[in-house]
Amino acid sequence: MITITKSQSETELFGKKLSAKLKGGDILLLSGDLGAGKTSLVKGIAAGLGIKNEITSPTFTLMNLYEIRNPKSKIRKFVHIDTYRLKDEKELIEIGVEDYLGQPDTICTIEWPEKIENLLTGKKVIAINLEHDEKPHQRKISIS
Ligand SMILES: Nc1ncnc2c1ncn2[C@@H]1O[C@H](COP(=O)(O)OP(=O)(O)OP(=O)(O)O)[C@@H](O)[C@H]1O
Ligand SMILES: [Mg+2]
Repeated sequence: MITITKSQSETELFGKKLSAKLKGGDILLLSGDLGAGKTSLVKGIAAGLGIKNEITSPTFTLMNLYEIRNPKSKIRKFVHIDTYRLKDEKELIEIGVEDYLGQPDTICTIEWPEKIENLLTGKKVIAINLEHDEKPHQRKISIS
């Protein structure tokens, strides 16, 4: 499935709509160049899941965890990982990433997932690619 967005807010809105289709245990791999819109998409997904906190990029913290308090939903946790500055996947293991990946009450989003392929082996994932497109504010988002 391919979607074209024409602004950051359109990408966020796309994330918001996508969030309605997600289930606990889902792992979303967000690939794409610097500035492709990965974090913008995560912001939309988080908003759609009812998270009110501001979503900041976990470039230095590697992983941000948000609690979801919605009695109607089985999803309790939302995890945002950014491996851009990761040197070794052991760093992520040390901060407990394996407690979250694929857990039935948790949705995980991962920017730069290609750096932690080993951690993802055998896990069912949803791959999302974001690309710059013809115009400066245009992005092509593909889900496979
Ligand atoms: N259609 C669009 N969708 C998303 N962002 C857009 C779009 N058009 C322009 N932008 C701009 O591109 C930038 C996207 O930033 P964002 O942090 O979401 O990207 P990223 O892929 O997470 O980057 P990084 O690799 O640095 O983490 C923002 O400055 C945003 O305003
Ligand atoms: Mg980002």
